Amino acid sequence: MADSARKVCQNGRREDDLNIEPGGPDLLIRNVHVGTMADTAEAYGVVRDGLVAVAGGRITWVGAARTAPREVTAGTSRTLDGGGGWLTPGLIDCHTHLVFAGTRADEFEMRLRGMTYEEIARAGGGIQSTVTATRAATEEQLCGASEWRLETLAAHGVTTVDIKSGYGLDVGTELRMLRAARTLGERLDVRVSRTLLAAHALPPEYRDRRDAYLDLVCGTVIPRAAADRLAHAVDAFCEGIAFTAAECAHVFDAAAAHGLPVRLHADQLSPSGGAELAARYRARSADHLEYATEAGCRALAAAGTTAVLLPGAYYTLGESRRPPVDALRRHGVPIAVATDLNPGSSPVTSPLLAMNMACVLFGLTPEEALAGMTRHAAPVLGLQGEVGVVSPGACADLALWDVDHPSELSYWVGANPCRVVVRGGEVHDPRK
Ligand code: NIG
Ligand code: FE
Repeated sequence: MADSARKVCQNGRREDDLNIEPGGPDLLIRNVHVGTMADTAEAYGVVRDGLVAVAGGRITWVGAARTAPREVTAGTSRTLDGGGGWLTPGLIDCHTHLVFAGTRADEFEMRLRGMTYEEIARAGGGIQSTVTATRAATEEQLCGASEWRLETLAAHGVTTVDIKSGYGLDVGTELRMLRAARTLGERLDVRVSRTLLAAHALPPEYRDRRDAYLDLVCGTVIPRAAADRLAHAVDAFCEGIAFTAAECAHVFDAAAAHGLPVRLHADQLSPSGGAELAARYRARSADHLEYATEAGCRALAAAGTTAVLLPGAYYTLGESRRPPVDALRRHGVPIAVATDLNPGSSPVTSPLLAMNMACVLFGLTPEEALAGMTRHAAPVLGLQGEVGVVSPGACADLALWDVDHPSELSYWVGANPCRVVVRGGEVHDPRK
């Protein structure tokens, strides 16, 4: 995050002095079709034969090239020829757990032999096994183990990613995970939002002392993460194998007391009142939602909470209960899509595969899937208007794709048509 314009974007602030050079734009992107993903009547917010101007790390003009006023193009210092490809907002993966040590390939084999995710968790495996490996790793070892995962997302057009803690479950390791996430974002020049998920599982040393662990989370971990500015939000896992709705509410109260917005892993494996709880606390998102009820969807809509669908976990765990997509649509709940990249339930490192799964497994349209990784993912991270749309004033975080239509981003399975990534106005080859 070297230049100052990028820092303005990184801070998520919209400022009047946008560093726009009086001499003209510092990047012009020509010869592209643009899927702006702005909320217009046009599918994908399409602008054919478009032109995008960038100055000071921000988009200053978007439109059909033939309508561009002279002052938009005059004095340009750099031009990017899009070769007739499609330009979209850089993708936003708003739910990952990509910082961790070890793998859980052994559990993949156990599940294929018939054990369930919950049985493995209750037998001391699952999240707990990643906790053991993560606690033993230094910050540098965590960065070393996780860097390729963030690199892989970035190579697929991801310019913003949320990374959660939750494999430490003690003060030191939870904060170390968040520091590793921050370091990785700085190293790879990817915008990283950090979410504290200390209420992910009950650590074994607290087996008969649930309240003591919650006191540690609420009384020490959340205050420390807030004071050290390590967390942008607080999340909790509301589930039979994790925490009850009442316990998650306690965590949310502590987050609110420290000025941190909340999110919730809700109704993934059983109906646990998660959607209703998320709505009651005006959470930024309720994630998973396979078992969410009609009333839960209505509550999410009224609260303005985004539903984050995670088809990678549904796929990997071989689930059969789909999230209530029709009810979410009917009630007007914004739908985001994410990889949920984690070692247990979703070792998915491709945002495009997550979009494909959202279409094939959950019935989203390709346009809904792309909106779920762009415009609808931004508010989940408090970045609405900043990222997720190609619009004047937004950060110049963009992806250029070798496709004939943006629906192809959800269509191909296992391909990566990402040709160029622009981050804060800087052009990158995604393969490097
Ligand atoms: O989002 N649901 C809880 N947390 C993760 C899984 C974490 C793990 O199994 O390591 C999820 O799916
Ligand atoms: Fe998750």
